[in-house]
Amino acid sequence: MKMILAFNGSPNPIGNTSIALNIVTNELNKRNILTENIQIGGKTIRPCKGCRKCWDLKNKQCVITNDIVNDLILKMYRSDGFIIGSPVYTSNVTAEVKAFIDRTNFVAKANDSMFKGKIGAPVIVATKTGATFAYAAINFMFGISEMITVGSTYWNSAFGKMPGDILSDDEGIRSFVNLGKNMAEMLNK
Ligand SMILES: Cc1cc2nc3c(=O)[nH]c(=O)nc-3n(C[C@H](O)[C@H](O)[C@H](O)COP(=O)(O)O)c2cc1C
Repeated sequence: MKMILAFNGSPNPIGNTSIALNIVTNELNKRNILTENIQIGGKTIRPCKGCRKCWDLKNKQCVITNDIVNDLILKMYRSDGFIIGSPVYTSNVTAEVKAFIDRTNFVAKANDSMFKGKIGAPVIVATKTGATFAYAAINFMFGISEMITVGSTYWNSAFGKMPGDILSDDEGIRSFVNLGKNMAEMLNK
């Protein structure tokens, strides 16, 4: 069975980002695709040190070993793809998501493009402004990882402030539902 990971980059484990991710994974589950939700927001995720040792060691791991990133790199390697969800913080992804995409991508690139050919999609929530910057930041990671990005009827984002508010954004919800369907279709091709 195919497996898709859904990373929640919001420090709120039950908030708009988790609601959005659950809408997408629900569509995948309905089509017999396994999913695993993984909370990264609010967890210790150290920033990349820029040491480039991953390019010398080539052991599919980061030299920073005292956080969850190395386990996640291996999980990502074994998966068929991943969704990275983030609320917009000051017009971009959260600090945890930034550190996460910097380190996982760099290790993957250093090891013969570990994520090549997997599918990926960003999922963004915002109150008002900056969704496209956060969307782009995650898509840039997928692009250089030689991954295949999956689109939807609209860009995968919805508006809301307090937890649950995005449920009033019909167009946003529709784009998350359709994203799940498109990811399933892509995986079955
Ligand atoms: C520190 C911080 C910065 C934020 N910056 C922005 C922003 O630049 N643009 C925006 O539209 N919303 C911004 N927001 C609002 C969140 O993106 C919004 O409330 C979102 O729905 C929260 O998602 P969550 O429930 O998954 O945490 C910010 C929120 C916080 C806490």
